[in-house]
Amino acid sequence: MTDDITHPRGLANGLTNYGDNEFSLYLRRSMASSMGYSREALSKPVVGICSSGSGYNNCHRLMPELVEATKRGVMMAGGLPIEFPTISLGETFLNPTSLMYRNLMSMDVEEMIRAQPMDAVVVIGGCDKTLPAQLMGVANAGVPVVYCAVGPMLTSPYNGERLGACTDCRRFWGKYRAGEIDDKTIKEVEGLLATTAGTCAVMGTASTMACLGEALGMMLPGTAAIPAVHADRLRAAEASGRRALALALATGKDQLLPRDIITPDSVENAVRVLLAIGGSTNAIVHLTAIAGRLGIPVPLDRLNVLSDTTPVLVDLKPTGEHYMEDLFAGGGLVGVLKELRPLLHLDCMTVAGETLGERLDRHEGFIDPAIVRPLDSPYQAKGGLVALFGSLAPRGAILKRSAADPTLFETEARAVVFSSLEDLAARIDDPDLDVRADDILVLQNAGPKSPAAMPEAGYLPIPKKLARAGVKDMIRISDARMSGTAFGTIVLHVTPEAAEGGPLGLARTGDRIKLSVENRSIDLLVDAAELERRRAEGDATAVQPTFKRGYRKLYMDHVMQADGGVDFDFLRGE
Ligand code: FES
Repeated sequence: MTDDITHPRGLANGLTNYGDNEFSLYLRRSMASSMGYSREALSKPVVGICSSGSGYNNCHRLMPELVEATKRGVMMAGGLPIEFPTISLGETFLNPTSLMYRNLMSMDVEEMIRAQPMDAVVVIGGCDKTLPAQLMGVANAGVPVVYCAVGPMLTSPYNGERLGACTDCRRFWGKYRAGEIDDKTIKEVEGLLATTAGTCAVMGTASTMACLGEALGMMLPGTAAIPAVHADRLRAAEASGRRALALALATGKDQLLPRDIITPDSVENAVRVLLAIGGSTNAIVHLTAIAGRLGIPVPLDRLNVLSDTTPVLVDLKPTGEHYMEDLFAGGGLVGVLKELRPLLHLDCMTVAGETLGERLDRHEGFIDPAIVRPLDSPYQAKGGLVALFGSLAPRGAILKRSAADPTLFETEARAVVFSSLEDLAARIDDPDLDVRADDILVLQNAGPKSPAAMPEAGYLPIPKKLARAGVKDMIRISDARMSGTAFGTIVLHVTPEAAEGGPLGLARTGDRIKLSVENRSIDLLVDAAELERRRAEGDATAVQPTFKRGYRKLYMDHVMQADGGVDFDFLRGE
């Protein structure tokens, strides 16, 4: 098969250019032979296995097992599997934030798939930014793709309850800050939050994106929620390998590329699923970036329309009470898709080679209504996320209403402003800070172009003196993001950001801010003349990025705002 240079397959794909293709193939086979492959093996169609294991990524700890299982699937189907590595993004190990490196990983994935010979690829990952980075990367890589997530962690028992990263990380840290638990307890909890391989155990960003990957059709049916350590996870990898080989061999109308699967309709299905699972706010940014690679817009005003017509069906933390292992036991994502069926575009194609509707027609498995509620008896009547617009956020902001306090939804209050993360760290716990429980906390200069590169800092801590007085939630507004595992009345992704000249940067302590979830509005109640005066005055406290070279400079020069998915302008599709 690899000998046919005019219709290249397998190892004959994309030959290294020496000006003589037959020589290139001869040399490539010669070098490949040094790895112990037989001539017969080298004549097979090739399925690349894009691996993202790393000693800095606890969530991908079982990558070697998954790669082996995927290889087994490819070989059972008659292909040659070839593993290759890319960058890996371990969420808690990256400075200033993993989001800054998502675009770099996406470029690595796209270019290594395009540059190396393969007829199809299985891409394996899952920790927070890895899955979005990989889907962004495969969108234009030009070969069929099956995505295989590493799967979520299991929880750990602790004093009669269960602990799972990372909603419980924040819950216990909040108790510790409030003085409700001591040093010994927080140390015990620290050792029990993440005790298995896999991604965070709740409906955080990683689990949300795995569900969206399946909803988009890029993963095999029923695979999003399988725990990382369950044998079904390995069977999913094996099946992904088999399926990738079938896609590699497909011709004509059976050929399926990511652009045949990620379409405006499947993206809208993914938004519906995001809303129904009470998914992470980060997913809006990631989905915007993935769809944007194929030129598909995800407008925030459309999000509001979909949010009002899509109930929350899934009772999982941080919106509800359960964990991903419960969603798996309760039937997995297919239960959500079946309940949402009247709201979905059913003719969307999936990597399984069937449409979403065909897939749902043949499903007969158990669905636990305690985990996935019926459409006519939902967990919450309206979707989990809303976009807000107004004088504070002319191009939009996001609120996760399903994890917020509804008593704060219609509020006008005084702003207490922090000009940067450094300012926040220096003053938030100052006993002399002039702050009350009914104030609105504002953080500036934490957006995509800030030195911190849009960290998950939008979950501003409740000032210690208020936390100790029993305050559990306050309205918090910023151009930062929030972990998908966090909860609270938190307005995020304010666009344009302060560092890009957005009105957020003009807010001052003492200003009045009005939030209306009903009206989808967020306004800074300061007259235009005063805002112009402040703009002319400039902000001496703003921290300027100091990235002068390398990838960080590329990032600063080309990163777009949240409404562009925080992607690079030169990577967006037509
Ligand atoms: Fe990897 Fe949470 S740390 S998904």
